[in-house]
Amino acid sequence: MDSAPLPEAPRRALVTGIAGFIASHVSDSLLRQGTQVIGVDRRLPDRGIAAVNLRSSLRHPAFRYLHADLLHHDLAPAVAGADVVFHLAGLPGVRPSWGAAFPDYLDCNVLATQRLMAECERQHVPRLVLASSSSVYGQTGDGPCREDTATRPISPYGITKLAAEQLCLAYARRHTATTSVVALRYFTVYGPRQRTDMLIGRALRAGLSGVPLHIFGDGSNRRDFTYIDDVVTATLAAATAPACAEVINIGGGVGTSVKGLLETVERVATVVVRTIAAPPQPGDMSTTQADTRKARRLLAWRPCVDLTTGVTRQMEWIKRSAGRSGKALCS
Ligand SMILES: NC(=O)c1ccc[n+]([C@@H]2O[C@H](COP(=O)([O-])OP(=O)(O)OC[C@H]3O[C@@H](n4cnc5c(N)ncnc54)[C@H](O)[C@@H]3O)[C@@H](O)[C@H]2O)c1
Repeated sequence: MDSAPLPEAPRRALVTGIAGFIASHVSDSLLRQGTQVIGVDRRLPDRGIAAVNLRSSLRHPAFRYLHADLLHHDLAPAVAGADVVFHLAGLPGVRPSWGAAFPDYLDCNVLATQRLMAECERQHVPRLVLASSSSVYGQTGDGPCREDTATRPISPYGITKLAAEQLCLAYARRHTATTSVVALRYFTVYGPRQRTDMLIGRALRAGLSGVPLHIFGDGSNRRDFTYIDDVVTATLAAATAPACAEVINIGGGVGTSVKGLLETVERVATVVVRTIAAPPQPGDMSTTQADTRKARRLLAWRPCVDLTTGVTRQMEWIKRSAGRSGKALCS
């Protein structure tokens, strides 16, 4: 397909996985810029994490929540009239993707994506922006991954994310295609509302509460931590970037070891993080690092928030949230 002209800021957007960490921030930003948002999630909006993540969006008059599972619900009304679909729903996490939970990964990451992509095509939605993952690369050598680095995922999760992005790209490359696709390969996202299974939040809570933190491996694994505000900026830019079928890395641009991250947490929070060594976990990559030159070129994007600033903001959010809920911090 030719790259269709897209409006500067979408008038109306569908955001899937809206009750989750990344999508809830994308929603807040879209609403701030004047876009109407329909948010879909299979979580109830007024319970637990969903209620925390959606606190601001739910109060906005231009926001509508649809409680639905992408796998079973008729998606036509949600997709109708959307200038862009941000498909951020998914089942994340490498470790639980082995074994019994795999069918749920396949359902949420692959089959639900196919249903949504087909509906976007049917209704001629101009652009789908998809959350892919650094997990698609698998074990790479030293140095940053470019988008054309070989993809050899080493976890069932990574395999489902690769399948989802390639599926959408295949749709977008058909000569009859009506929906262009930008798949963003996010590298370890952190910041306020980060999922509770993820390292930075766990390390901060461990440091602040004194409860020891389980560390998998010897602490030498490196991650390219990416602050949520940078991820949101890139995701919004992907809605209007000139593209037909592209994958783009979105990473903070600096590799930090787990040990280095713990030092940052200790310095920022002025705490000691006590750790318990646990064996390395299957599927955990030793290094992730993004080459972000393509994002600079196509999205005019570069990461702006360094690790110390980002960890400080996340710590402040954790303290505020614990104060609001009256619950003790725990890792
Ligand atoms: N957080 C990261 O560091 C990271 C890194 C790479 C890629 N990603 C991808 O980004 C996306 C968002 O990640 P997150 O960290 O915000 O996760 P999250 O778990 O906080 O949010 C995902 C949301 O999707 C919803 N969902 C899942 N399956 C659904 C279905 N079938 N129907 C309706 N809703 C469904 C969940 O209920 C959840 O609210 C995911 O696709 C994930 O794979 C995240």
